[in-house]
Amino acid sequence: MKIGILTSGGDCPGLNAVIRGIVLKGIKVYGHEFVGFRDGWRGVVEGDIMDLPRQSVRGISKQGGTILGTSRTNPFEGNGGPEVIKAHMERLGIDAMIAIGGEGTLAAARRLTDAGLKIVGVPKTVDNDLDATDYTFGFDTAVQIATEAIDRLRTTGESHHRCMIAEVMGRHVGWIALHAGMATGAHAVLIPEQRTSIEQIVEWVQEARDRGRAPLIVVAEGFVPDHQDSAHSERGLDTFGRPRLGGISEQLAPEIEARTGIETRATILGHIQRGGVPSSFDRVLATRLGMAAVDSVVEGRWGTMVSLKGTEIEHVPFEAALGNLKTVPQHRYDEAAILFG
Ligand code: F6P
Repeated sequence: MKIGILTSGGDCPGLNAVIRGIVLKGIKVYGHEFVGFRDGWRGVVEGDIMDLPRQSVRGISKQGGTILGTSRTNPFEGNGGPEVIKAHMERLGIDAMIAIGGEGTLAAARRLTDAGLKIVGVPKTVDNDLDATDYTFGFDTAVQIATEAIDRLRTTGESHHRCMIAEVMGRHVGWIALHAGMATGAHAVLIPEQRTSIEQIVEWVQEARDRGRAPLIVVAEGFVPDHQDSAHSERGLDTFGRPRLGGISEQLAPEIEARTGIETRATILGHIQRGGVPSSFDRVLATRLGMAAVDSVVEGRWGTMVSLKGTEIEHVPFEAALGNLKTVPQHRYDEAAILFG
């Protein structure tokens, strides 16, 4: 069999380990042949491929990014669509595809499978917000990177007696913030799932200061304070009526400083959390998922993705991962909140 692999959507530490797991098991156990589509669905829609012989995956598990490149191309837009893709697959002699990606990628893969294409999926997101899998690779690395950065913010904050705010990734969910916040002993963790008020945040900051600490806040980029004033957003102002700045941490910093008199600094960690060497946990998880995805192809499990349940890899339909995001449950936030202030 000739199998095409694509990585799509935002990149994530561990993608190369998945590719290596697929190619090595596919060649060693089943004798399959592999090609990679360049830049996600763009390569699929344009029939742009590269060969993936065994030597192409040598030593790549520890490399960040993806050797195939990625994009946020939607395969149904522009010149795409199932018929175009089927024609490329036939011309290139590709029998099946393994799509590695998040919700958008898996939703597209499901539509293409419904249209008759043979696709299996591997879930991916640093945000850890995909339903139907206990963890996604990349999350552990992102938490590790954030933890190291926040530890550093703490020492400079303590030296200057400042309040430090670290903004981490998480547009819709607060998993990275929650874990990095717990790991670093943050005095407040602010996540999209909890509409915390500015009064509560200030109380935690003040409590920490009263105990002689340099207050440390970890906030997810998608956090919205319980302080919305629609008149402000209509006038292009942030939630506190100030000129709108880049991230939520930059909106919180002047407000906290004004309310407490404590000098406050904001740091946005951004894409640093997605780059570089994956953790060993992510390498192992990604490799196992890749190897299981090859089994899915051999067994003809089209329209399914591999997933981690406990410590075992299972096969679940694409639908299980679509629709509902895996948010931080209330009890996990409450447990962490005992340590705030
Ligand atoms: O979904 C993963 C993620 O890293 C989010 O946490 C973040 O908001 C987004 O991707 C950034 O996307 P981009 O790389 O397109 O700027």
